[in-house]
Amino acid sequence: MMDNRSIGVFDSGLGGLTAVKQIMQELPKESIVYFGDTGRVPYGSRSRETIIKYSKSDMKFLLQKDVKIIVVACGTVSSVALPKLQETVPISLIGVVEAAASAAIAATKNNKIGVIGTKGTIKSGAYEKYIKSENPDIKTFSKACPLFVPLVENGHFDTMVAELVTEEYLTKIKESGVDTLILGCTHYPLLKNTIARFMGDGVTLIDAGAEVAKLLKSTLTEKNMLAEQAAKEQYKYYVSDDIDGFENLGGMFLEQTLESKVEKIDIEKY
Ligand code: DGL
Repeated sequence: MMDNRSIGVFDSGLGGLTAVKQIMQELPKESIVYFGDTGRVPYGSRSRETIIKYSKSDMKFLLQKDVKIIVVACGTVSSVALPKLQETVPISLIGVVEAAASAAIAATKNNKIGVIGTKGTIKSGAYEKYIKSENPDIKTFSKACPLFVPLVENGHFDTMVAELVTEEYLTKIKESGVDTLILGCTHYPLLKNTIARFMGDGVTLIDAGAEVAKLLKSTLTEKNMLAEQAAKEQYKYYVSDDIDGFENLGGMFLEQTLESKVEKIDIEKY
């Protein structure tokens, strides 16, 4: 059994593209419908109720595109609301927490893992709980980094401003001696160079977006739902605000032009 329908992916903005990039590599025959809620970003500082409300409309939009599975490519939504959201849709949801936390557990040698994410993600303790449930000997060190998402959405991937903010946020975690750091928000891998430079060679960075793509591959394989053939328009992107910023920055990150592939929609209708 094959399933040629698209994979739905959503995030509050650009961050989910870190999952898309990896899905393109791991699963080149799959088609993707992406939704970035650029009109309502950031999610990370909002209440659980609002995050659930926004995510429900994001998923409703994707369901209308007849997707076969939805990748919740947002650390905040995955941490705060995944089980609740799964109850509301008839297809499977895959979140980033389990995928990234498992990769970190496999990577650490000194049993010290750092976790960074939005305020909502860190407050939920979702990554830490998963890690402890798998291995109670592992110590975790967490930090919310609320300025990282606006930096990324404004194209500050590798600038002096990004460097300063990174130093401010990550100094304590670095001093704690972690050998593995979970980039628990899907926006953060866009700052990977800056973060890697600051943390140094001895620290493995775990990319939540990339890890969820690997989990997606094993899930689709298990369920016999892989595509045999890509759709005519293999990759399609929708946003809830002007397309310019997303087209430019997203294209830069994906290393391909997004021209004529991005469309603006009114998410309030869903
Ligand atoms: N990419 C989202 C995440 O992974 C960013 C959330 C936000 O919009 O604050 O958490």
